[in-house]
Amino acid sequence: MTSPVRVEEVAAPDVPPAFWTGPAPTALDRVWRARAAGAVVGWLVVRDGPDAREVLHIEVAPHARRGGVGRALLEVILGGPPVWLEVRDSNVAARALYGQLGFVIDGRRPRYYPTAAGGREDAVLMSWRPAA
Ligand SMILES: CC(C)(COP(=O)(O)OP(=O)(O)OC[C@H]1O[C@@H](n2cnc3c(N)ncnc32)[C@H](O)[C@@H]1OP(=O)(O)O)[C@@H](O)C(=O)NCCC(=O)NCCS
Repeated sequence: MTSPVRVEEVAAPDVPPAFWTGPAPTALDRVWRARAAGAVVGWLVVRDGPDAREVLHIEVAPHARRGGVGRALLEVILGGPPVWLEVRDSNVAARALYGQLGFVIDGRRPRYYPTAAGGREDAVLMSWRPAA
């Protein structure tokens, strides 16, 4: 991204941007929005639990990918309680992003997600934890 990225928490539920393919947030969720040059370029939906937070979905507008937006969104929720998430085994971009931020693999849910080709693929369970 050539324009600076600004991340801000917005009221949940908020209206998802057009590029969003995840579930719509509920009143139980928290939402962060990334903007650049006045446009919404990324969104993050998180649910806070008693001991950890769960990333329900993160998505960056296709034209803005690989410019640090995903990283900027996730960085706002790292540093406090542990963070959990699930990601498709085949999602190379997301898994690389999570790994770069210090998430580690805790396990798998075999054949959890349906694929567009009619098959199944594993969910990879990952977590970020504060340093002991
Ligand atoms: C996954 C996603 C959120 C990443 O957002 P992004 O803004 O493009 O990511 P960033 O630019 O912050 O990337 C940070 C790092 O992640 C890794 N990464 C990101 N995209 C990558 C890709 N396509 N291939 C390999 N590594 C990638 C790189 O290590 C990158 O650092 P670098 O650019 O310095 O090499 C974005 O690709 C997306 O919206 N995908 C569709 C929705 C999705 O799959 N969400 C996750 C559901 S679990």
